[in-house]
Parts: sequence; C-alpha cells; structure tokens
Amino acid sequence: MIQLRSISIILAGLSAVKAVPISDAQTPPCDLSSTSCGPVPGESDIYNDYAGKAAPFPGNSTGAIKSTTPEDDPGADDLLFQNLLAAEWVIYSFYQTAVETFNASSFIAIGLPNNTYERITEIRDNEAGHLRIFQDSISSSSVKPGPCKYEYNLTTPEFFLALQQVIEITSEAFLTGLVLQAKLDKTKSAMVAIGGIESRHSAWALIDVWGADPFTGPAETIFPYANEILDVTNQFVVPGSCPKENPVYPRPSQHLPRMNFESDSTTARPGADITFTFTKNPQYQNDKEYYAVFYHGLQKVSVPFDVKTNRTTIPAAFDSKGLILVVIADTPGAPYTDTVVAGPLTLLEQPSQITLAFGN
Ligand SMILES: *[C@@H]1O[C@H](CO)[C@@H](O)[C@H](O)[C@H]1NC(C)=O
Ligand SMILES: *[C@@H]1O[C@H](CO)[C@@H](O)[C@H](O)[C@H]1NC(C)=O
Ligand SMILES: *[C@@H]1O[C@H](CO)[C@@H](O)[C@H](O)[C@H]1NC(C)=O
Ligand SMILES: *[C@@H]1O[C@H](CO)[C@@H](O)[C@H](O)[C@H]1NC(C)=O
Ligand SMILES: *[C@@H]1O[C@H](CO)[C@@H](O)[C@H](O)[C@H]1NC(C)=O
Repeated sequence: MIQLRSISIILAGLSAVKAVPISDAQTPPCDLSSTSCGPVPGESDIYNDYAGKAAPFPGNSTGAIKSTTPEDDPGADDLLFQNLLAAEWVIYSFYQTAVETFNASSFIAIGLPNNTYERITEIRDNEAGHLRIFQDSISSSSVKPGPCKYEYNLTTPEFFLALQQVIEITSEAFLTGLVLQAKLDKTKSAMVAIGGIESRHSAWALIDVWGADPFTGPAETIFPYANEILDVTNQFVVPGSCPKENPVYPRPSQHLPRMNFESDSTTARPGADITFTFTKNPQYQNDKEYYAVFYHGLQKVSVPFDVKTNRTTIPAAFDSKGLILVVIADTPGAPYTDTVVAGPLTLLEQPSQITLAFGN
C-alpha cells in the first residue's frame, strides 16, 4: 500500500507538468511537410483512442510529400526513414483495412473478447502515429513516401489475426536490423522505442486472441539485413500503384527470391525436417556449397542446404518461442548481405496454432 501511494504521488507530479501546453500544432488540412501540421504523436489522443472507421491523420492523406529544400544534402538517416515510412504504410494500411472490413461483432462471433475490435482500432491509431513520426523524421531535403494500394486478402477475421501476429513479430525483427543502419544515436533509440510498441501489440494478441503465453523468450529475433525483410512486404503492394515520387522500396534491394515451405510435410518446429519452395530460382553457382542460416533470438545456426532436394532441418537447439527467420546463403553464417541468395522466411513458433508462413 505504501508503495502504491508513493507511485501515485509521482504520477500526479508528472501530469501537472503535462498540463502546460507545449504544442502549436496547426489543424489539417495544412502543409504536411511541416512538423507542426496536424496532431503531434505523444500529445494527441488521435494516435491512441480514435475509434472511427474513417482513416485518421496522416493515414487519410494521399501522395508523396515533396522535398521543400531539394538542393540541400539529405539528413543522415533520411534513407532509413524513407524505407521505414514505406514499410509503415504497409502496416498501417493493414490495420486500417481490417477496421473497415470488420466490426465488433466479427470478433465476438468467433468467441473473442468484446473489446477485440476496439484494440485493433487502437493499434491502427498507434500505427498512424508511427506514420507521422517517420514523416517528421525525414528532413525537408528528401521526399516522404506516400501510400500505395495494398492487397491483404482479409477474407476472415481468423486470417487477419494470424497475419497480424506475423506482421508484428516480423516488424520487431526489422526494427532491430535497422538499428545497424542508423547513423544518428537518436534514430537508434527511436527504433527501440517503436519496436517496444510493436511487441506490446503482439503481447496483447497472444493473451487475448490466442490464449497463449504473452512472452516470446528472453530476446526478440534479430536479423541483420533489414531491407531483405522489408522487400518481403512488397507482396502486399499492388504493382505500379505507388505515387510516382516515391523512392524505390526498399532501397537498396537485392530482389531475392522469396521463400515458403511445404507445410503438409513438416511441423516447422525446431528439430523438424523442412522443404523450402521459392518464388523464382535462386542464382546458385555450381562450385559452391549452400547453407540454410537460421536466426532465433540472438542465436544463429547454419545448416547445409541441398539445392537439389530443397530440404534441410530446423536446428533442434532452438526453443519453441517467438519466431525463427531463415535465409539461404553461400557462406555459413551469412556474414555479408551479398552472401544471401534467397529469403528471409518467417517461421512463427508462437502461437503454435499458426502454421502460416510469411514468405511467398
Ligand atoms: C484527415 O484527418 C484530419 C483529422 O484527424 C482532418 O482534419 C483532415 O481534414 C483529414 N484530411 C483529409 C484529406 O480527409
Ligand atoms: C457488423 O457487420 C455485419 C456484416 O458485415 C453486419 O451484419 C452487422 O450489422 C454489423 N454489426 C454492427 C454492430 O455494426
Ligand atoms: C464485455 O465483456 C465484459 C467481460 O466479459 C463484460 O463485463 C461486459 O459487460 C461486456 N460488454 C458488453 C458491451 O457486452
Ligand atoms: C485468400 O484467403 C482465402 C481464405 O483464407 C484463401 O482460400 C485464398 O486462397 C486466398 N487468396 C489469395 C490470393 O491468397
Ligand atoms: C528446389 O527448388 C528449385 C528452385 O525453386 C526448383 O527449381 C527445384 O525443382 C526444387 N527441387 C525439388 C526437388 O523440388
């Protein structure tokens, strides 16, 4: 009791500080290239609990935001944030599409808590906040990419919820990878702060949707080549639908073959044999050996990969939490980006009901 009382005193002190207005935000429609245009993330509850079906700011804008000082050098992390903003449009639009497609009854009808739809709109709102944070993080010297058209095939609430877990846990993996590209320290801490929110989203779903353990092991899975994961999200983009001012996404891109696996012949669990499939043939060289490089938590394990059978074994040493990422590489451990010849593929270990792959 004593501890609780002292905590509430501290909280009261904080809210007294917050009562001082610190923003001179302009009301939309205004110049989106100005950081003072529209609600400010961290100040406006639009990014927390806006419950409407209509797209919230800045998700209701179209087109790229042009550079206002194209003659100046780009900001040190502009390229990183351009890639991240384009990825965020994929993720935000995924939730916005779900908010438009479903309603509270859709989830109650499949036995889920009656606040499931409300939580999904809240996540949509958080993702709109990420859009604005990333737009504001790109300097005025660089274009801020706008939304494309996306296709998610959200035919059932169950399919949406399965894909939601894959998208959230995969975004944690690419955020840890983007930290390696960041030039500025403040960008690195921003990546950690955003990744933390994505893991809250997935922890909520593990508890309330899947009735599963919310914890995914001692560390999220890190994967060093973030752009390779970002490229996989292009599967949701309708070809040719992006604003013509948008930079190529992701940049740079290796255009690697995407991977999937034969799901009827494997449990896709640690220790299981698994056969991979590819959207196009990897560029194998006759004199080289190839490896399936598996990432899980902070661990990385390389296993010989037979390019004739496409068959390998998921390392038995991994625990059964979180996710496993796998690429095909021409060098054990895939030490450089260019050693990767296909992938990555996401194998979701948790919740165990989902055998869906994020590849293809
Ligand atoms: C977007 O939403 C904001 C409110 O959040 C509104 O002021 C603005 O007019 C909307 N813009 C468009 C293009 O609908
Ligand atoms: C939810 O959507 C269904 C069909 O899409 C519709 O029949 C139902 O009336 C909606 N429920 C609410 C509360 O809007
Ligand atoms: C939602 O579910 C909770 C807990 O099961 C219940 O207490 C509440 O009355 C329900 N609300 C509505 C609007 O049905
Ligand atoms: C869309 O989802 C349905 C059911 O979940 C599935 O049968 C169908 O093959 C999917 N279509 C595409 C293009 O992925
Ligand atoms: C293995 O994958 C390659 C590349 O997609 C394909 O050409 C080949 O037919 C596959 N092998 C088997 C045995 O399925």
